[in-house]
Amino acid sequence: MDAVEDIKSRLSIEDVVSQYVELKRAGRNFKGLSPFGNERTPSFIVSPEKQIWHDFSSGKGGNMFSFVMEMEGLDFRGALELLARKAGVDLEQYKGSYTNNTKEKERLHEALELAAHFYQVQFSKNQTALEYVFKKRCFTKQTVLEWHLGYSPNTGTALVDFLRKKGFSEQEIKGAGLSAQRYRGLGDMFRGRLMIPLQDPQGRVIGFTARILVDDPNAPKYINTPQTMLYDKSRHIYGLHLAKEAIRKTKYVVIAEGNLDVIASHQAGVRQVVATAGTALTAPHLKALSRFTGDIRLSFDADSAGLNATERAIPIASKVGVSLSIITIPSGKDPDELIKQNPATWQEIIEKPQYALDWLMNRYQEKLDITTAQGKRQFSDVIMGVVRGLNDPVEQEHYIGEIAKLIGVSNQALLGKLKDAVPLPKLKAHKAAVKPLDSAQLEMTKVQNNLLSITLLRPAMRSFLVPIKTQMIIEAPARDLLAFLEANPDFAGEAAAATPLRPIADYVKMLSLLFEELYQDLELQELQGEAARLQVHLIDQYVKSQKQRITRELQSSDDARTAELLAAAKKFDDLLKKHKGGAHA
Ligand code: UTP
Ligand code: MN
Repeated sequence: MDAVEDIKSRLSIEDVVSQYVELKRAGRNFKGLSPFGNERTPSFIVSPEKQIWHDFSSGKGGNMFSFVMEMEGLDFRGALELLARKAGVDLEQYKGSYTNNTKEKERLHEALELAAHFYQVQFSKNQTALEYVFKKRCFTKQTVLEWHLGYSPNTGTALVDFLRKKGFSEQEIKGAGLSAQRYRGLGDMFRGRLMIPLQDPQGRVIGFTARILVDDPNAPKYINTPQTMLYDKSRHIYGLHLAKEAIRKTKYVVIAEGNLDVIASHQAGVRQVVATAGTALTAPHLKALSRFTGDIRLSFDADSAGLNATERAIPIASKVGVSLSIITIPSGKDPDELIKQNPATWQEIIEKPQYALDWLMNRYQEKLDITTAQGKRQFSDVIMGVVRGLNDPVEQEHYIGEIAKLIGVSNQALLGKLKDAVPLPKLKAHKAAVKPLDSAQLEMTKVQNNLLSITLLRPAMRSFLVPIKTQMIIEAPARDLLAFLEANPDFAGEAAAATPLRPIADYVKMLSLLFEELYQDLELQELQGEAARLQVHLIDQYVKSQKQRITRELQSSDDARTAELLAAAKKFDDLLKKHKGGAHA
């Protein structure tokens, strides 16, 4: 048995799911409202027999691991660790790549959790800290508890002494980033400060940021945990553990600059807010958020540092492939100050962000004199640099038109710039797809899964698969199944038990759940009609996506390549014509 099997044998999918979704019995299965959308009639279903979930509204589905990945925004490894903890499975006993440093990390987590608790207790006893938080920052008691705010005493070794007594070694305390070498020996890292725990997406403490209570020009305002085994500032997103649900509901996320901006916003009831506190926005930050939403709204401070950081974020977002827009604070320096003045305005402005490129154009229009030749050149250099990174050719063309109008040059001149420019590095296609499928791809996988479920469970329908080629299929398990069915056209056994299908057993189970829900009761003729419709739909979607790709490539291809691409486009048209007639196979 491997770790995955062990965990599956100890947990049931209905228990895992019901921590996130309210489930009701419906015959052999459970049903609930989809956690991936705002629906009124339940289309989310869990099969206790198959230990599989499927969400009919989004087309997503799988086993308990994929569910936790979706809900928590984790990769497989993260979901494995989370469910192992829940199941009480010690991953250490399973040799291999899952296990490195698990024990050591657990110890650091324990030390940090204890430290957070220690700081909370100290907070309740420190008048300066209490006054700062409740009077100056206007936080409520509930907010303080929710974010585990604390206070670090300034005696020098209070925390180190406390953790030593609890049995932690010097090395562990250091490894957690809680101590610093002082001239008298090991001392506390944080002294006399407001303590704000940094938590991972599951809410476990991985470090701290600590604010000075009385501003002092000779001391840093904030001190943060250094890089440790648990805390990596270029990846950590502050507040995600409490923002996840709201992000999923509102379908967008706001990134602020400071931790206290996040807390203030949550207190005001606007919870889809996180921060990349104390560091520039990175691609890993955006990738992690893109597991929840592709609509990212930046609300950095309205000072020059904030503006520059915003500008630097634009090409990163375009590389990661998320849509970036900008929120401008109308009064006050940051969200925290605005919320104190007028929380309703905050809610209003985050709902009407300005698309990043429009924002950038405004900014440079103000910065440069675009009536001069030099101004036009500088303006077009900056803006075209971003336009080049846009994935959508229509969008590119739109902006080229806008820029041309604005600075009074021809589209042609700008297109020349686009061609000469060094192309952005192509992102490597990652095998473990971190990026969620976009809505068009989700729609395609729905159609693919439905067709595969019919043809797998009703061998008489197999002929509908003949024109379907593996390159038309998006997801790996579906491709594997198609290849198997091509190689074994007469296969009619119990699919989930078939040895070659073992590695995709959960996918196969999901297809049979789909079949039971959607097609079980259809007459043969209805089923045929359905399969034919799905087949044409699939080919149609595939041809469309290929032609979009060709259009994109045509923009920057030389003559020889253009001819090639046009020939390919013609072939796709023919493919579609051949099947649109309603004939199959
Ligand atoms: P700001 O100086 O804008 O602070 O720094 P702020 O968030 O408005 O904090 P308050 O409202 O004065 O308390 C923005 C972020 O940059 C990081 C912190 O994470 C802060 O939230 N920072 C700032 C540091 O890491 N070190 C510093 O010395 C200052
Ligand atoms: Mn502030």
